[in-house]
Amino acid sequence: MDKSLNEIKALLKKYGQEQLLDNYDKLDDVKKKELLKQISEIDFQLVEHLYQTTKGTENNHPVEEITPMPYLDKYKLGEEYKYYESIGKKAIKEGKLAAVTMAGGQGTRLGYDGPKGTYDIGLDSHKSLFELLCDNLKEEGKKYGVIIPWFIMTSRENNKATVEFFEKHKYFGYQKDKNIFFFIQGELPMIDTEGKILIGEDGLIKLAADGHGGIYESLVKSGMTEKMRQMGVEWVFIGGVDNCLVKMVDPVLMGIAIDKKVTVACKSVVKANPHEKVGVFCRKNGKPNVIEYSEITDEMAEMTDKDGELLYGESHILCNLFSVEAIERMGANPLPYHIAYKKAKYLDKDGKLVVPDSPNAYKFEAFLFDAFGEVDDMAILRVKREEEFAPVKNSDDVGVDCPKTARNLYKKFYHLD
Ligand code: UTP
Repeated sequence: MDKSLNEIKALLKKYGQEQLLDNYDKLDDVKKKELLKQISEIDFQLVEHLYQTTKGTENNHPVEEITPMPYLDKYKLGEEYKYYESIGKKAIKEGKLAAVTMAGGQGTRLGYDGPKGTYDIGLDSHKSLFELLCDNLKEEGKKYGVIIPWFIMTSRENNKATVEFFEKHKYFGYQKDKNIFFFIQGELPMIDTEGKILIGEDGLIKLAADGHGGIYESLVKSGMTEKMRQMGVEWVFIGGVDNCLVKMVDPVLMGIAIDKKVTVACKSVVKANPHEKVGVFCRKNGKPNVIEYSEITDEMAEMTDKDGELLYGESHILCNLFSVEAIERMGANPLPYHIAYKKAKYLDKDGKLVVPDSPNAYKFEAFLFDAFGEVDDMAILRVKREEEFAPVKNSDDVGVDCPKTARNLYKKFYHLD
């Protein structure tokens, strides 16, 4: 139920956020109602806590013990390959696998004006990232005589454009609300350097997607995990929209998870070199985790085992398989938020649009792997970079992880040249 204007004013006063109503009188009735609703839904204590983290006052992380995480190499499994594969194949045929694509990101580095999934990487077919992912999903499903249910996470910002795109392409053969589902991820308000929540161009609260770590809570809150259970789904592959070689259906990965009785199994690719700027799997205080390249010393980055393999060499590539139960567990507890300092347009107290030319606001994002510590153990499967990892992150002028490199990898893998 909406709170009355007076109640809202009292709430804002309590948290020092009265500026949110500076331009209230200039809004039409629909927007007035919408703004009050938005304000009543804000967790002001969380916003205050997030602001404190930007000042570093709440950032006293305890010292963590970092140790390596064991992994299996898909191509060194020998006899066991077939064993795991047969377990996974059986489960896929029984309809126990679903795929989730996280497509709520802003794709700022790519600089494309539209949902990243609709981006054409320049193949002769001019297929979008969504279609490339879908092609693979359909082809794999056929092998097992099933249609793999597909769940797509969007953001409030790109949901409409995403669903319209799918509609225009007749869902690439999928059926909306039968085997393809869309859900919107969570958001958090953006704040300025004084901790004041901003008002965006539309006169409403300036909200930003809460990062790919929001996936667990969004899957649960939107009723998607419940739907999965009703459909008999037990395992969920969660991947990004921007890896055009992502293999969402992998019986070996699934077989390992089932056989080893772990609730999470992740794919990795070995670092291109010890100092590549990627997050790698490790254990933090004994629990599975991913550590950023900036968090380990040069010495640790270069450490090798008896076979000469890097001890911290397994890169996290956002290709992870979860049991439905693990998703629910991970969605139950709040994740830490990481701070990003960004340029954000906003309305000032006189209702004038301010377009900053340097960062002026904080955005808060949770990372998917911060939830890994919720489980005691997980399996890591090393796969081949050239078979499974062709990310589209940057624009072509950057030269790495860009449409051109992804296109070349895709063509090479599918022998399109
Ligand atoms: P990235 O972290 O690479 O972010 O997302 P991005 O938004 O695509 O690109 P930049 O950083 O703005 O340039 C990795 C995957 O996680 C999804 C993205 O859509 C991508 O598939 N993601 C990211 C979300 O779904 N929601 C988010 O809030 C953030």
